[in-house]
Amino acid sequence: MTALLEVENLSISYEVGAGWRKKSVTVVEDVSFTIGAGETYGLVGESGSGKSTTGKAVLRLADIASGTVRFDGTDISTFGKHTPLSYRSDVQAVFQDPIASQNPRHTVGRSVTDALKRHGIGDTKSRRRAAVEVFEQVGLREGHLDRYPSQLSGGQLQRVSIARAVALEPRLLVCDEALSALDLSTQSQIIDLLERLQEESGMSYLFIAHDLAVVKHISHRIGVLKKGRLVEQGDAEQVFGNPQHEYTRALLAATPAAHPRDRRRPATLAA
Ligand SMILES: Nc1ncnc2c1ncn2[C@@H]1O[C@H](COP(=O)(O)OP(=O)(O)O)[C@@H](O)[C@H]1O
Ligand SMILES: [Mg+2]
Repeated sequence: MTALLEVENLSISYEVGAGWRKKSVTVVEDVSFTIGAGETYGLVGESGSGKSTTGKAVLRLADIASGTVRFDGTDISTFGKHTPLSYRSDVQAVFQDPIASQNPRHTVGRSVTDALKRHGIGDTKSRRRAAVEVFEQVGLREGHLDRYPSQLSGGQLQRVSIARAVALEPRLLVCDEALSALDLSTQSQIIDLLERLQEESGMSYLFIAHDLAVVKHISHRIGVLKKGRLVEQGDAEQVFGNPQHEYTRALLAATPAAHPRDRRRPATLAA
């Protein structure tokens, strides 16, 4: 069986500086991994290691210098300049900042119905119905649809971002530090939600995080990035139970607990 996503020898460079100082810096180098249907691949590494850039390549937000990214057998570089609508719905993303992910002047319900509209799905009435349905799926109520982003908590807003993504029935969800802005108990709730959604729909996750505790709980397999290179990858238990690389051991040593739920709550956090 071919994997849903196949990343092969991926390298990505950025142009930095201007004029005669301009140079190309390679920030992702020779990275290869696959993600199967219904599988979660956790990509970890410290800040600046190239995690987001890798995610961006999959989302076609970063140019690939060399190597290939294949989705369902299709090399995504063959799409050319304009990413097909089908790919944009097949591969959705949830990012770190739930507030920045919403338009402050639009209700959060509209962020879902607009996404459906952009993809040519349904009419005004059916889109509203679909939004209600997907809100309930992510643990929000119909009443939340007509609220503005400022009227929701960070956790609720992240549920909206997930709802908007899930509404398009993606096959792969790129979660880039999707939990990093949330407090620990909210992180646990969103992890549980993502796991439930995966069970229900069979979608795959590229789960990017600097926090190994979160990644360990949700991932089937894990890749460890260091300065743009994958230094280790394997089954989650294997990477965590018996890390082969010094860098992985150092990252693990800096991790407080296996799951946010298992960590002691800070005294300031209300129950
Ligand atoms: N648009 C950009 N232009 C130039 N350099 C960038 C750009 N985006 C990221 N970088 C650099 O690429 C490296 C990897 O960044 P990133 O993928 O965001 O890392 P991570 O998500 O692991 O923190 C960093 O050194 C960062 O400064
Ligand atoms: Mg990042």
